[in-house]
Formats: sequence, C-alpha cells, structure tokens
Amino acid sequence: MEVKDEMLPDKLLIHGGRKLNGTIDVQGAKNSALPVIASALLLCDETLTLGAVPHLYDINTMKQLLESLGAQVSFENHHMKIYVPEKISYNASVELVRKMRASSIVLGPLTARCGKCLLPLPGGCDLGDRPLDFHLKALTKMGAEVELSHGSIITSVNGRLKGADVRFDFPSVGATQNIMMAATLAEGTTYIDNAAKEPEIVNLADTLRLMGADIKGDGTETIRVIGTEKLHSAKNTIMPDRIEAITYLLAGVMTEGAVCVRGIDSNLFSAVLDKMADAGVCLDIFKNEITAKYVTPLKNTSIKTMPFPGFPTDAQPQFMAFLTKAQGISIVEESIFNNRLNHVDDFNAMGADVRVTDNIAYITGVSSLHGASVHSFNLRAGAAMIMMGLAAHGDTIVSDLKHVWRGYENLIPKLRSLGAELEIYE
Ligand code: UD1
Repeated sequence: MEVKDEMLPDKLLIHGGRKLNGTIDVQGAKNSALPVIASALLLCDETLTLGAVPHLYDINTMKQLLESLGAQVSFENHHMKIYVPEKISYNASVELVRKMRASSIVLGPLTARCGKCLLPLPGGCDLGDRPLDFHLKALTKMGAEVELSHGSIITSVNGRLKGADVRFDFPSVGATQNIMMAATLAEGTTYIDNAAKEPEIVNLADTLRLMGADIKGDGTETIRVIGTEKLHSAKNTIMPDRIEAITYLLAGVMTEGAVCVRGIDSNLFSAVLDKMADAGVCLDIFKNEITAKYVTPLKNTSIKTMPFPGFPTDAQPQFMAFLTKAQGISIVEESIFNNRLNHVDDFNAMGADVRVTDNIAYITGVSSLHGASVHSFNLRAGAAMIMMGLAAHGDTIVSDLKHVWRGYENLIPKLRSLGAELEIYE
C-alpha cells in the first residue's frame, strides 16, 4: 500500500483536554528505513527484502526514487522487496529529490555502484542550513571527482572508489551513512572517524553486513569498512522508531494520562527518559514496554540537543511542548540545527510562555493552554503542535499536516485508540 498525498488530511480539529491512556505499538523507524532502502542500490542483480518498513510519505518518495533509477520495488503490509537489476541509472530525479532532503542518501551508493551520480541539490530546509560538504569531501578523498553544475552535484570516479581515512568535523548522520555505504564497494579499507553513533547507523551497518559487507565499529566513533567487489541479496528488519515512541509518551503525560509504547528498547532514548524523570514523570520500564505516567505536576528541567547518545534534536519540539506545562523556568538549547525553534510563536498563541534568544528557548511553565489555529512547520514541530492541541482546553486546528505524514504512520487511529478526540477539518 502506498501512502498517497490525497489520502491524508491537511488539517485536524482537536478537541483538547482528554487524557490519553493506553498502549501503542511502535512503527519501524523512518530514519533507519530511508538509508536502508537506499543501500539496495549497492546491489547488482540481487534483492533486498525488508520487514517493519513504515507506510509514510517519505518512504514512498524513496521507493519512487529507487524505481526511477531502475529498481523494482514491491511494498505491502510493511514488507518491502527491492530488486536491483544490473543496469541502473545514476541520475536522481529533481522532482523527487526536492520533495525530500534525505534523498541525498543515494549519493554514496550510486557513486560506488555506478561510478557516477547526478544529484540535484536538495537545497536548505526549514531547519536551517543543511550543507553536504562532509559527504562531498569524503567522496573526493575516496577518489571521486565532484563538480557542481546547473544546480546539481555530479560525482564521477574512474573504476572503483578507493578506501580512505575520513574524518568528519561533526558526527553527521547522513554523511556517516553515505560514506559507510560507498566504502562497502571501494577498493581497500576506509576508516570513518568522528562518525555518528546513532542506532540508525547500526541498523544500516547490520543490513550491509547481511549483504556481505565487512564493517566494524558502527555505534562507536570510528567505523572501519573493508571494501568488496560485490554484495549479495539479504533480508533484514527496520528497527523501531524512537522518535515516534517519545512523541506518544510525552503526549500521554502532557494530557495527564499514561501511555505505554510497546516494541522498543528504552536504551534507544535514555537521554529523553532521564529528562522526563527529572520533570517528575513516573516511568515503568519492563523489557520492550515503556510506560510514562503523569502522577504529579511537572517540574522544570533543561535540555541541550546533541548527537547520540545525547538528547535527539528530532525530539526537541515535542519535549518543548511538554515543558510548556512544567512549573518553573526550563531551558531548551538547540545545538544541531540553526533554525529549529520556529514553532515557538504558535506555542505562545496557545497560551505558552516561551522566549527565544540565540537558539536557546526559555520556557516559563503555565498551568493551562488554550486552543488556537496553528501550523505544522515541519515534521516534528507538527507533532508538537498536535500534542499542544491535545493538552489544551478547547479546540485547536493544526494545518499543513503534510509534514507530519512524512513521519507518523496511522497517527489519527493511534491517538483515537488512546482516547483523543480529533477530526479531519475540511
Ligand atoms: C539526520 C536525520 C534528521 C536528524 C539529524 C540529526 C534522517 C533522514 N534525518 O539528518 O532527522 O534531525 O540526522 O540527528 O536520518 N552538516 C554539515 N555538513 C554536512 C552534513 C551535515 O555541516 O555535510 C551539519 C548540518 O548542517 C547539521 C549537523 O551537521 O547542523 C547535523 O546534520 P546531520 O547529522 O547530517 O543530519 P542529517 O543526516 O541531514
């Protein structure tokens, strides 16, 4: 089943103030599925089979991108099968790349597999500047020529890429994934230093190993990849989505209820759980089930977004929503992106008290929020606006939900199963 634009609404009307209670099964992680699907491009006349792939707009865009390059993809009931023939194109479609910045994840696999890649510049986005310089510098070090021409990045290499010692100035998730994939088909050994340690990197490395790649050190700051000439068919499962889990846990507590998320290891987001505990949330962790319960008025706490295992930037807007109701002054510092606090005005329109100076938000907790008409600025800010609406008194309309459907599968039925009252607003 494909998630098509016309299938999901642009606006939701939320009747706030209902406590959320119940259990949610966690979806497969969008941010793991995207690079893992792209890794199929390293194959030649072989198939990658994946389970637990979430049905989301972004996944559909990645599926279309692979199909436009010549792959045959089937996707049904979270099960994706990607056959990659011998001959594929290295030319990524402008239309699809512009739709989703994460399309840049095909750069490494295509350069390694085809000796060439033409990637229209994905451009910036509403999180601020998002350059690809680390990706390009590393590919150059591996022997690729890189040029920028007519708004596209063009990479080319004579023969195979060469193993190299790569060091990133910052542990970029996308650059680590791109270079780790490229290195699997390179001649010789690649070391990636100051690599990102996110669990999604490990899920990708596991998939590559199942395809025959020789990778060690994923999940640590140095990854070593010994290149090989050919990878083979494999099957793997997408890991659970830690950001989805965090969103539902926080939404439960914000509405003074108790939500359990099932099917995820708490170690994937202990930085967030620690801060929830600081704020007075009662946590119950048993195997792969985590329950967060509101027991007492929330207290202020502070966070700074950091690379894994630090506090994830993708949970920052949702955590800030939660803090709008915590007594005292909380501080949220966004250190990964330079424009990821643009949800604040809409928070304040709902009665929150947040001031921003230099990428730091100061949140004075309020005893109640009220409904308003607000926007979903991006994927996670959109989820945060929905949380605000659920916790507010009165009705809230959240518009521009197309961003939210990029990352949350079945959000409306999941929230309704927890007791939320919301309807599609025409
Ligand atoms: C991935 C996630 C995104 C998450 C982010 C940080 C996916 C599909 N997206 O994005 O949801 O918010 O990690 O955890 O998995 N940078 C450079 N030059 C580069 C690359 C990055 O300066 O070549 C900077 C970026 O501008 C940003 C920081 O590094 O300030 C982190 O970006 P990065 O980790 O690369 O994020 P993405 O992989 O794009």
